[in-house]
This record gives sequence, C-alpha cells and structure tokens, in this order.
Amino acid sequence: MQIGLLTGGGDCPGLNAAIRAVVKRGLGEYGHSIIGFRNGWKGVVNGDLVPLTRDKIRNTLPEGGTILGTARYHPTKENGGIDAVMQVLEQERIEALICIGGDGTLHAASEVAAAGVKIVAIPKTIDNDVWGTDQSIGYHTAVNIATEAIDRIHTTAESHNRVMVVEVMGRTAGWIAVNAGIAGGAEIVLAPEEPFDMDRIVRFLTHRHRSHASFSIIVVAEGAQAVAGSSFEYTTETGKYGEIIGGAVGAAVSHEIAARTGFDTRLTVLGHVQRGGSPTPTDRILGSRFGVAAVDAIVAGKSDVMTALIGEHVELVSLQDIAGKVKTVPTELLQVARALA
Ligand code: F6P
Repeated sequence: MQIGLLTGGGDCPGLNAAIRAVVKRGLGEYGHSIIGFRNGWKGVVNGDLVPLTRDKIRNTLPEGGTILGTARYHPTKENGGIDAVMQVLEQERIEALICIGGDGTLHAASEVAAAGVKIVAIPKTIDNDVWGTDQSIGYHTAVNIATEAIDRIHTTAESHNRVMVVEVMGRTAGWIAVNAGIAGGAEIVLAPEEPFDMDRIVRFLTHRHRSHASFSIIVVAEGAQAVAGSSFEYTTETGKYGEIIGGAVGAAVSHEIAARTGFDTRLTVLGHVQRGGSPTPTDRILGSRFGVAAVDAIVAGKSDVMTALIGEHVELVSLQDIAGKVKTVPTELLQVARALA
C-alpha cells in the first residue's frame, strides 16, 4: 500500500519524530511505501512529493522543523482544491493519507475525509489547543523555551528593578502563557480565556512595588484581551489575513503599565523562538507514539480519526467530533496561576 504523509500549518519541534515513526513503522513493520508531500496541502494539490526512505529520516529525531516543509494552505478554501487533492491521490495511487497539523490542517483533513479519502490525523501545535487530545506535538518544547526565557528575564528584571512584560504565543488558548507563567514564577499571567482588567493590574503592581518587591514579571498570551468597557480596552489586533499580530498586545500592555505606574517597563516578544530548535524528549516520544499509532490505524482500516493522548494512552478520536472545537485552559489551572501571584 502507498501511504501519503504531510505536515501542515505552523511548524514545531517534534514533527520529524512523527515523520520518522511513520516511515519506520510503515516501511519496516508492514512493507508499505510512504510518500511525503512537500509543504502541506499545497504539495498534495501540486503533486509535489518525495518517497520517504530510511535515508531521508536518518538523524532527524533531534531536528526541529519538518523535513517535509509546511505551509498555511487550505485546499477547502481554494476553488477546485478538493478535486485537485482527489486527482493527485488517485494518480499517485495513494490509498491513505496521514496529516500532521493543527486546527486548520485538521479541519481540511476532515473535509477531505468526508470526500472519501482514508485519513488519519496527528495533532501538532505549540498552542496545545487541539480538542480531543491532552497534548499536541510541539507544546512541551514551547513551554520549556518560554520558561527558560522567563527565568533569564527574572534576573535582569531584579537587577534593574523593572516590570518585564513577556509575550508568548497562543491565539485562542493560553496554555503556554499559563504553564510557563507558573513554572517561571510570573506575577501576572494574561490569557485569552480570561479578559484582563488594567485597573486591577495597575493596583496590584503599585501595591507590590510599594510593599515588598522592586520588580515584576507579566506573561501575556498574544491572544489576550481586555475586559470590554473597562478603562483600557484592548481587542486582539489582527492583520490582513485575520492572523494575530505578534507583539501587539505585549506592546499595548507594557506601554499602558509604564504610563500609569511610572515604573521602568520593558517588553520581550518570544515569537517564533518558541517554535524553533530541537524537541524535548517528551515531544520526541509523543511524535513517535502518534506516528506508530497512525500507521497502525491505517493498517487496521480506520479513517477519519485523529491520534490523541488521553491520560497515559494513545487512542483514536473521531475527526468530525473535534472539528471546529478549541481546547482552552481549564479554570482550575488559571486559578493556580492567579493563586501564586
Ligand atoms: O500555530 C501556532 C502559532 O504559533 C500561533 O500561536 C501564532 O499566532 C501563529 O502560529 C503564527 O504563525 P505564523 O507566523 O507561522 O503564521
């Protein structure tokens, strides 16, 4: 059997572990051919493919990014996109497709599956907001990177008696902000799940700096928003394509704090640093487990499913059930971040 494989959407550490596992399991265990498509769905539509041999995956486990390349491209949004996908898959005699991606790629995958293609998906995103799985590939590494950055910012914040605002990624969910904030000992964490009130932030900082501290760290997710109708209104700033403008909320928050408190305030936007570099062992293991499970699912005749980490186990969940849903940070975790401020 010929199995197609693609990585779509934003890249992240751990993708190569999943690709490697698909190739090893598919080729080694079952003797199937694995055909990689370059640059996500774009490669499928354009018939841009590369047969994945053992040579291609050698030494890729610790590598960041994706050896297949990726793109933010949705065949379902293009005229005739689905037809082009069907045509290329038929022409190349691809019997099943493994799609590694976040919400956009998985949404496209569910529509392609509905058109009759055998699909098994693997969740990846540093944002960790894919519904149905406890964790997505890339998230663990991103939290590590953000925590290390906060640790470093801590020492310079203290030396200079400054308020340091650190903006991390997270469009619709604040998983990185909340967990890196807790791990890095941030004073305040602002996440999309809970609109923030600038008056309270200013009161808190003023009291803290007057009574017992001379520095503060505020971690803000790029999708955080202010309470509507409050003295400082901030709605996520989006660009031409509806994408969140990185750095915008961090700049607005740090500017407002400096203006209202008079404290020396600085902003650090971690941006794509969080998506680059070598994956942690946890992400290598998760990618490997998902890769093996995806091939096994195809061999077992499953389709329209996604591999998911549920507790200690990798299971299969229905793609149709997760489409359009966002996994946000639970209140209990938000409360822990708040309780430790
Ligand atoms: O996919 C996750 C993510 O890291 C978001 O948090 C961020 O908004 C987005 O990707 C930015 O991606 P790009 O600059 O590649 O479009």
